[in-house]
Parts: sequence; structure tokens; C-alpha cells
Amino acid sequence: MNDIVAYYTSWQLSFESLAYIAAALLFILALAGLSKQATAQRGNRLGMVGMGLVLLATVILLISFAQKQAVVAALIVVALGIGAAVGIPLARKVEMTGMPELIAMLHSFVGLAAVLVGYNSFILTPGSDSPDNAFHMGEVGLAVFIGAVTFTGSIIAFLKLSGRMSGKPLTLPGRNWLNLGAIVASLALIIWFAHTRTVGMGMIPLALLTVIALLLGLHLVAAIGGGDMPVVVSMLNSYSGWAAAMAGFTLGNDLLIIVGALVGSSGAYLSYIMCQAMNRSFISVILGGFGSDGAVAEERDYGTHHEITAPEVADMLASASKVVITPGYGMAVAQAQYPVADLTRRLREAGADVSFAIHPVAGRLPGHMNVLLAEANVPYDIVYEMDEVNDTLSEADVVLVIGANDTVNPSAEEPGSPIAGMPVIKVWEAKNVIVFKRSMGNAGYAGVQNPLFFNENTQMLLGDAKDSVDQINAALKVNA
Ligand code: TAP
Repeated sequence: MNDIVAYYTSWQLSFESLAYIAAALLFILALAGLSKQATAQRGNRLGMVGMGLVLLATVILLISFAQKQAVVAALIVVALGIGAAVGIPLARKVEMTGMPELIAMLHSFVGLAAVLVGYNSFILTPGSDSPDNAFHMGEVGLAVFIGAVTFTGSIIAFLKLSGRMSGKPLTLPGRNWLNLGAIVASLALIIWFAHTRTVGMGMIPLALLTVIALLLGLHLVAAIGGGDMPVVVSMLNSYSGWAAAMAGFTLGNDLLIIVGALVGSSGAYLSYIMCQAMNRSFISVILGGFGSDGAVAEERDYGTHHEITAPEVADMLASASKVVITPGYGMAVAQAQYPVADLTRRLREAGADVSFAIHPVAGRLPGHMNVLLAEANVPYDIVYEMDEVNDTLSEADVVLVIGANDTVNPSAEEPGSPIAGMPVIKVWEAKNVIVFKRSMGNAGYAGVQNPLFFNENTQMLLGDAKDSVDQINAALKVNA
């Protein structure tokens, strides 16, 4: 009987190792696929197969576990059940616009899990005189530190993104010194912790470390303002990856180390790319103190704006040979991507050259606009990045700015503006600009007024973007 159990267990372990290697490869291929719009769906599927394999390996491991520790196995099944019961309905009902806050919330769970794994590992195997003790204690300390920073940082990001907390940066006096002090104190506490030999002694530096790291996460993200929020989300993504990798070291789980490192490094690289897109220094974003809560920065007389009706826009489009569409967050809010795709098809059939100009931080999450356009079946080959089209916009007869604001704001080119230095799509260089917006009262995400709206060659089409595009499509149909 014992032989059978041993054989069964070794078979399970081999399957587990194989599943982990296959899953690691699938996750790498998934990331490679996600780098291009045309291969993104394949990348997603590969990632799902990888995750499925890991779950299968975990279930098989659970079965072998149940033979030895039925209560523990039952507890794990209950925990999985509760997670699925909460997670599945949440993921089903979340709107695309609510995605960043959901991601922020999920990052906080990863952080909390890393803290709990760290505490658990320490309580089970407190400090000892063995040679690898320092490594074990160091990784526990680091896991708790990164996990606690990720936990509170992600909660603040969630509160800010969901509007439950002001987006204004918290600028405490000497905030950089406070952060530096917290990091130095944490390092000292990890060293103290690594030298302890009992749970009672080790718990003192570990608890102090946890409190400092929780406060540091809270302060780091509270100090970051609205304009830098996209970078914060991907930075927390990176932190959650490192927290998972640390938990992997603590648990001796190779796959968790690999996946954590993949998430950690890709999140860090994404943050770097986004900083470049916003012309922000990565370090200054991390240290915070930039952005605003929606207040218009300065009182200035911008002149008067000119309004236009949907049938007039339809007439303008009917005679245009080159049309560029610049979507932004408002297209997502209005769910206007389907009528926009319809309009694109109609204009192309009539012989116009139609293309899309996408800003790297348009919307509320990386790739937001690309996802919406892909969902509405807009062909990939007419969707361009900002850098690919910025020098050719003067050739456009009409640019349709559909619910974009900060990403087309010319004041980014003025020194002293709150968004100064952020690269923007130079739509104002086109012959005609039509801006779709609900009212003249609201500013964009960074809370900065947009002088584009008052230019001679800009006309405002006020109203919900979906209704406006529907009306243009209807007018084009009648005229066809
Ligand atoms: P925003 O600057 O957010 O402006 C959105 C525009 O859409 C506003 O002019 C708004 O005016 C209009 N709008 C909203 N609902 C609408 C509707 N139903 N119909 C028509 N118009 C509507 O958009 P953006 O240019 O895409 O810039 C994105 C901003 O978000 C940047 O500041 C970026 O840093 C920040 N951000 C980006 C991300 C990522 S990763 N992409 C994440 C977080 C934050 P009305 O309200 O008057 O309609």
C-alpha cells in the first residue's frame, strides 16, 4: 500500500514539475503575444491555458494532500470557493472604465497575501543558527516589506481611481525625507529581524517593519496626483509581482518566483514606457507630489468656443479625403466605439482615408483605446500610435476628437502648465478639429483647461459621444 502511495506521489510531483515548466513557458509566450494588437488574443489564450495547467497541478497536489491532512485540504478548497464566489461575479460585472480600480484592488490582495505568507513562514520556522537562516529571514522581511507597501498603496490607488478619495497629491513637508527615513528604518529592522532566534524576539522587529511599510505604501501613493495615476497602477502591478516572487522564495515555489519576476519586471518596464509617454521622470513620479484633483489651474480668458451640429459634421466629413480619429476616455464612457467603427467603415467605403491616432495614456488603463477599437472590429492596420502620426496631422482635413481632452491639450507645450512636457497629439495642426464632449464645464482628468476648444479651427459637438456619432451616421446614410 505504501509503495502505491509513494508511486502516486512521485507521479504527482513529476506532473507538477512538468506543469510548472509548461506554464512558465506559456506565460512568457503570453507576454510576447500581448505586445502586439494582432497577436494579443492568442497571447491571452496562452496565458489562460498556463493558468489552467497550474490550477490542475494544484488540484492534484490537493488530492495527495487530502490523503495526509484532510482538514488543511478542506480549508484550501473552502478558500478557493470563497475566492471564486467573490471574484467571478465581480469580474463579470466590471465595466471597462472600472478596470483600473479593480486591478488596484486585486494588487492589494497580492500584497496582503505576501505579508501573511511571510508571517506564517516565520512562525513555522523562526530564526536559527543554520547557514541559510539569514537568507530565509531576509526574504521573509523583504516579502513582508514589499507586500505591506503594495497592500496600502493599492488601497489608496483604488480609493483615488474610484473617486472615493481626492486625486490631489498629499504634499507633507519633507515628504522625501519621510520616505527615505522609512526605507532606512525598514532595512535596519530587517537586519535586526534576521539576527533573532525566537518567535517572541523576531515578532518585535517584524511588527514594527509591517507598520512602517504599511504607512510608507499609504504615503507613497497618497503623494501622487491625478496626472500620474496610470504610472502608479503599473508601478503597483510591478510591486505586486515582486511581492509574489518573494512569497515564492518563502514557500519554495519556483513557478511563483518566475511569474512574480515576470509581473514585476514587465510592470516596471511598463511604468518606464508610460513615464516616457508623459515626459515624466520615473523617480519624480515615485516620489510624488504631481497632479491635481480636477481644479482648473489658472483663470485665463480663452475666448469663445464655436459649436457645430451633427448634420454639419456629416457634411464636412462627406467632403473630407483624410480623416483622423483621436479617441479618449469619453469614448469609453459613452461606449461609442461601435458607432465610431460604423462611421469609419462608411467613410472608407466612400473613399476617404481614415485612421486612428492613439495616445499611450488615453483612457484610464494602458491599451484602453486599442481594446475598445478591437472590440468593435476596427482594422488594426489603420490604428496608429501617437508618434507614428503626430508629424502628419497637418495633412488631415478633419480630426475627430472623441472624448479626449488631456491627451490633445496644447497647454502641455507651455512651461508652467500642470501637464507641461507631456507629449500630446497635435490635433490643432489639422485643417478642422471637431471635439465631442458633453459640456464646456468639465476639464479633463488632470483638471487643466484645454485652449484647443477655443481655437478658430475647432468646433465643439456637445452631447454624449455615442448619440453624436449615431446622429452623424444617420445624416451620412440619408445623404448617401
Ligand atoms: P480625459 O482627459 O480624461 O478627458 C475625457 C473627456 O471625455 C472630457 O473632455 C469629457 O468631457 C469627455 N467625456 C466624458 N464622457 C463623455 C461622454 N459620454 N460623451 C462625450 N464626451 C465625454 O481623457 P483622455 O484625453 O483620454 O486623457 C486620459 C487622462 O487620464 C490623462 O490625463 C491620463 O494621464 C489619465 N489616466 C490615464 C490612464 C491610462 S493608463 N490610460 C489611467 C489613469 C488616468 P465632459 O465630461 O464634458 O463630457
